[in-house]
Amino acid sequence: MVCLGNICRSPLAEGILTSKLDPTKFLVDSAGTAGYHVGELPDRRSITTAKLHGLDISYQRSRKFVSNDFQAFDFIFAMDQSNYDNILALAETAEDREKVHMILNQISPNSNTEVPDPYYGGDQGFENVYQMLDEACTIFAQKIS
Ligand code: 4NP
Repeated sequence: MVCLGNICRSPLAEGILTSKLDPTKFLVDSAGTAGYHVGELPDRRSITTAKLHGLDISYQRSRKFVSNDFQAFDFIFAMDQSNYDNILALAETAEDREKVHMILNQISPNSNTEVPDPYYGGDQGFENVYQMLDEACTIFAQKIS
């Protein structure tokens, strides 16, 4: 799960998808295309929103997306078009490129709908992001389980 800062959207996405998959079979992680917040906890609004839905994401620490993630993971989900473009810029092979998807295309295939960045908004933006990601992750988890 990849966003820009790895403190707002992708930590929620990591927490949500992790909760829907068997941990003995799947490894879920998140990262940011920018390194502004490396080592930090998720934004407190993401932590609070997750907690309202029974998820603890406070164990997470921000890290930057690296090219080795193409080897480590089978699916790479971008939150928005900018994340998608920045991830693809690091891809070296066709196999790498095929791993990258827009997360909300799980709900509306080929629509390339973006998860809005809630960083500069209020708490409602985080709940909105949560609801979108929950729907997308439910669909993806059913597909791969
Ligand atoms: P995220 O949100 O990409 O969902 O983690 C952001 C977090 C931090 C910044 C931008 C977006 N920032 O500019 O520091």
